[in-house]
Amino acid sequence: MADAASSRDVVERPASTERIVTLTVNGQSHTLRLDTRVTLLDALRDRLGLVGTKKGCDQGACGACTVHVDGRRVLACLTLAAQAEGREITTVEGLSAGDAPHPVQQAFMEHDGFQCGFCTPGQIMSAVALMAEGRTGSDEEIREFMSGNLCRCGAYPNIVAAIRDAASRGGRDAHL
Ligand code: FES
Ligand code: FES
Repeated sequence: MADAASSRDVVERPASTERIVTLTVNGQSHTLRLDTRVTLLDALRDRLGLVGTKKGCDQGACGACTVHVDGRRVLACLTLAAQAEGREITTVEGLSAGDAPHPVQQAFMEHDGFQCGFCTPGQIMSAVALMAEGRTGSDEEIREFMSGNLCRCGAYPNIVAAIRDAASRGGRDAHL
């Protein structure tokens, strides 16, 4: 018969929620021991040091944490790291080819598509996906499909101009 102390252990000790998760990020495989409740955003920033992906609201409202999973944009703050196992994850650090910026990054620089820059990685990840989704037919369409990415600096006109320009070049130099 269990004594009082061991009975309390059985009741109070939570089952382990950790597991080994292998994440493929920007083409590199990383095996981590993670709590299954850890978000992809926290795994990228806190465990892998990929701090280009920003934490804004941490509740799915600002788009600052946008990354690609299997080529589709997702909000890393609403995605569990364990859910991304076996998928191809791309962060803003993985967009450029060596020293050459991605064409969308280049367009953001040419059009001053940022001020403080905090929202910019998420904007750029969304913009790259937007071109792949074929949602750059007009400024209105760009605005609508970029509406999940907020910019507190109000750089929206320049962001739209950058995306329009990148799209007009056909994204032909895009690495994704
Ligand atoms: Fe993920 Fe704001 S930090 S949507
Ligand atoms: Fe500052 Fe967008 S450039 S929040």
